[in-house]
Amino acid sequence: MKQILVIQGGGRAGGNTAQLTDSFIKGAEDAGHQAEKISLVQKEVKGCLGCNACRYGKPCVQRDCFHEIIPKMKKADCIVFASPLYFWTLSARMKAFIERFYCFAEKDDNPPLGRYEKYPQKDCALLMTAADDFFWTFEQAVAYYRFAIVNYIGFHDKGMVLAGGCGDTNGKAQIDKTNHLKKAYEFGKSLYGTGQ
Ligand SMILES: Cc1cc2nc3c(=O)[nH]c(=O)nc-3n(C[C@H](O)[C@H](O)[C@H](O)COP(=O)(O)O)c2cc1C
Repeated sequence: MKQILVIQGGGRAGGNTAQLTDSFIKGAEDAGHQAEKISLVQKEVKGCLGCNACRYGKPCVQRDCFHEIIPKMKKADCIVFASPLYFWTLSARMKAFIERFYCFAEKDDNPPLGRYEKYPQKDCALLMTAADDFFWTFEQAVAYYRFAIVNYIGFHDKGMVLAGGCGDTNGKAQIDKTNHLKKAYEFGKSLYGTGQ
């Protein structure tokens, strides 16, 4: 049985992103895994201050919800990043959350080119929703995920569900009129196969 931590970086209550995440979680749970969702709307995580206190053995100086998320991340096999597309990239909440990874970087005496520290080994996945559904809609978000989370932090990508065409936020969520919820369920279910 795998432990899956889903970080939802915004979106409306009951909105497209919440529904997409819930379908993914249902799939993962039906396959026998344990999944927990944390919403960054409810649990505020501010961006990094760059004070570097964490590089001198001190916990992060910021008093926000990141501290309670750290042990959950350490325990998780897979961290899932779920966000609505805001101005062609991940939400500001999600970006702030990712900045705070700085405080659990470990010293790497022999880092590969372009990497300065190392991070715990985790699997990761990306779930996103957007109003548009063009071939470029998620380009910047996916580039950031690949560059920062996979290439730099070094998490192992398990895949993504990019749910375009969910309608804008001026009205009810439209994702139930698409096949994205089914895709997210299947993705959650097949992520690790049936958990024992
Ligand atoms: C501030 C803001 C910026 C947005 N920017 C984009 C965008 O760049 N491209 C796009 O296709 N949709 C954009 N949208 C639409 C949302 O991504 C889309 O409606 C999403 O599914 C909303 O998620 P939710 O229902 O979970 O709140 C934006 C919405 C908001 C509120």
